[in-house]
Formats: sequence, C-alpha cells, structure tokens
Amino acid sequence: TMVCRFWARSAFYQAGGAYGFRDQLQDMLALCTSQPQIAREHILRAASRQFVEGDVQHWWHPPFGRGVRTHFSDDLLWLPYTVAHYLNVTHDQAILDSQVTFLEGALLKPDQEDSYFVPGTSHNTSSLFEHCARAIDKSLKTGAHGLPLMGCGDWNDGMNRVGKDGKGESVWLAWFLYTNLVEFSRIARLRGETSRADVWAEHAYKLQTSVETESWDGGWYRRAYFDDGTPLGSAGGDECKIDSLAQTWAVISKAGDPERAKIAMQAVQKILVQPQNDLIMLFTPPFEKTPLDPGYIKGYIPGVRENGGQYTHAAVWCVIAEAMMGNGETAHDLFRMLNPVNHGDTREAIERYKVEPYVLAADVYSVAPHTGRGGWTWYTGSSGWMYRAGVEFILGIRLDGEELVIEPCIPPEWSDYKIQYRHGDSRYNIDVENPVHVARGVQSFVVDGVEKLGPCRITLLDDGGTHHVRIVMG
Ligand code: GLC
Repeated sequence: TMVCRFWARSAFYQAGGAYGFRDQLQDMLALCTSQPQIAREHILRAASRQFVEGDVQHWWHPPFGRGVRTHFSDDLLWLPYTVAHYLNVTHDQAILDSQVTFLEGALLKPDQEDSYFVPGTSHNTSSLFEHCARAIDKSLKTGAHGLPLMGCGDWNDGMNRVGKDGKGESVWLAWFLYTNLVEFSRIARLRGETSRADVWAEHAYKLQTSVETESWDGGWYRRAYFDDGTPLGSAGGDECKIDSLAQTWAVISKAGDPERAKIAMQAVQKILVQPQNDLIMLFTPPFEKTPLDPGYIKGYIPGVRENGGQYTHAAVWCVIAEAMMGNGETAHDLFRMLNPVNHGDTREAIERYKVEPYVLAADVYSVAPHTGRGGWTWYTGSSGWMYRAGVEFILGIRLDGEELVIEPCIPPEWSDYKIQYRHGDSRYNIDVENPVHVARGVQSFVVDGVEKLGPCRITLLDDGGTHHVRIVMG
C-alpha cells in the first residue's frame, strides 16, 4: 500500500504515476491508525483537487495537476468518507477547519464524457468541512427510483454507460452515499450546521427507503438501473444477475434491512463464491451476449477483471461484511481464499495462479481455461482493504482517539491470539483467549492487573512502559 499505491503509484501492470481520486483516498483508510500524518496530508491534497462546483478530478498527475474531469458519481464522495473514518480513528477535529483551495476550469458539457486539462486554482480557500459538504450536496439528485444518479460510472469504472444519459441510477451508490450522509449529518450538527445536518439525515432516510421499496430483487439487492430503467443485477436478466457490491455494502453501510442483508450475503456465498477454486466473483454471469450496453466492461473477456472475475478489492468487502455480521468462520474462510499465499503453496497451484504469491493480485480469472490465474499484482486497492479486513475486522483492533478497542470476530475454533501494539514509546502485549470458542464477544479483560468487564476499550498511555492486557472472550 505504501510503496506501490502511495509512493510510486506504479507497478508492472500499470506504470501510471497519477493519483486516482478514489484510489489513494481508500489507501489512506488503512493508514489512519499507523500513519495518521500521511493520511492527513493526503486528505488535504485530495481536497485541493476538487472543483468549485464540488466534483473532482478522476485522476491527476503531479506536479502540474493535469488530470481528467468526468461525470463519475462516486469519486467526490470518497473525500467525506475518508475524512469521517480519519476523524473516528484520530479525533483530530482540527482538520475540518484546514483551509484548502478549489480547482477552476471549464465545465463538462452534458454529452461530453470527460476532459483532460490543467485546471486553475481558486484565490479563496474554504474549510475541509466545506469541501466535504460540497461533495455531498452535489450528490443529492435522484432518478426515477429515488436512487442517486450513476453518471458515467461509480466504483466500477467499467460500467461507464449504465447512466450516461443522466438518468441511470446506482444502488451501490445509494448505500455509499447513505454512509456519508449519516456520518456528515452528525459532524455538521457538532459544528452547529443544523440545517445541513437535517437535510442530509432526511436524504439518508429517503435513500434507505427507496432501495428497500424499489431495489430488493427477491433474493438480493439489484445493482443499478440503466438510463431506460432496465435493472442491472437482477435475477430476471441474462447476465450480471447478482453483483456483490450491492450486497456487501448493504451491510457495510449499516443501511440494509438486517434480515434481507443476511439473505443477500447468503446468496453471495452460494452464487459468487467458488470454493473449489478459492475465488469470489464480482458478479455473475459475466457480460458476453447481452444487447445491453453497460460500458467498456464488455470489452474484457468473460471472467477477466471487472467482467465477472474475482475483483479482489470488492471480494475483500465480502470478508468485511461477514465479519460485521458476526460470522467469524465465514469471514476467515473468505480471507483465506483471498490470501495469495494459499494460491502458491503447491506446484499445481502456482502453475495455475502464475503470479507472485506474496502480494495481492487485483484480479483472479474466474472462467475456464484461465480459472484461478492471477493478474495485475502489486498495484491494487485491495491491499489496504485486505489489511483492514484482517487487522480491524477479524482480529478486531481499532483505534478510537486515545482508546484501543478490541472487538474480535474470529473462527470459533481459534483458542487464542496475541497482539503486540506500539503506542508512541509504549508497548502493549495483548493476549486474547477464547476458552468457550465463540466467534465474538469479550467477557472480561485485565489491563496491568486491573480487571474490567467487556466490551474491551483500553485507554492508551504513552509512558514508555510495557503494558500487559489479557482479554477473555465469551
Ligand atoms: C481500478 C480503479 C479504481 C476502480 C476499480 C474498479 O482499480 O483504479 O478506481 O474503482 O478499478 O473498477
């Protein structure tokens, strides 16, 4: 994450060097705990790539900032999303008042897909809070189903023609925007911005209602609607009947109805996970013959990259969703499937996988004759998310300001694990014990001889000492 994604922004498959707006912001999510200063700097760097109107450069090249202006609908929202996470971890409220300039440049014409140029910089600055607020306010338009407009794509770059005429809508984006609205209405209220807080909270509620009333497909959530209203990610279609994104984010956003989200994740498990090949497909079946035109994704052969392969970045979200639901066994099982080491541990395995087994691959092909073959190693946004899946969601280690929170979600057969955590000059040696073999739940914990009842929150001291923590699950 640091070397390929953040510093070089390059590797064998893509010698790019550009910052992707959503890409490096997501990488920062993984660095907030151990490298908050780097995360802080990058958040402010990203905010400075936002146009006065609230949209952002999809990617840009330092040092001149030449980059591309687009109608991507999710890019801008990764700014408030990352800021909210950074605040939850660091409690550094002051960042919200940091002053940052905007970009200035020609607006895209409605039918213009993108434009590549060096933008100007505004004379005036605004607070980071205002930058986040503009990103959110720009994302409030909805379409015929009450869902956010998909524009020329959301997280899935290849679905760039689903909403090209400005009418198509994205279910995944509804979940993602919901999270931003909930977090930022809370942040706005703390800053006394009550009317914004009210508008955002109400919009969050409306989005949640729209998805549940319009986009539950019977066994899972639909993925999107084309400009003409045709659903995507529906059992009634021929291809891309189920897309993992709309299911995992029903859980990650905490917006999905818990009963439905559970059914939807069971469908992911049944339809999208290939246990015999240790891979998790993004959606299935891949696009091949459909007369529909979702975008350039159709140019990839079936089962490769976003076109129904294992897109590891999204596959990690399956691990996180399972852990959030408390399914320690399944979360760990999926984590094991994604762990590249397990794709290179026998001669047969490595002959199939073919790429380096010690770094993540952005994708693993899912269709014969290439099933199980890895692609696009090193430079992948899945690495930061995979780190978080293991450390934060399975081992359950999370920083909340000056407190360390431990909320494990592990396979019940695990008896124990150890954590060594460094806080400034102090060291915390943490033993987690699981005597009655549960997946989650902390019964009691002892910090330097003082016993407390769960849930486990440890107030961290930077006193140069070595501290001992014993946690008993149950
Ligand atoms: C690539 C892009 C990223 C996008 C993903 C899925 O990794 O860099 O921005 O979200 O593909 O299409």
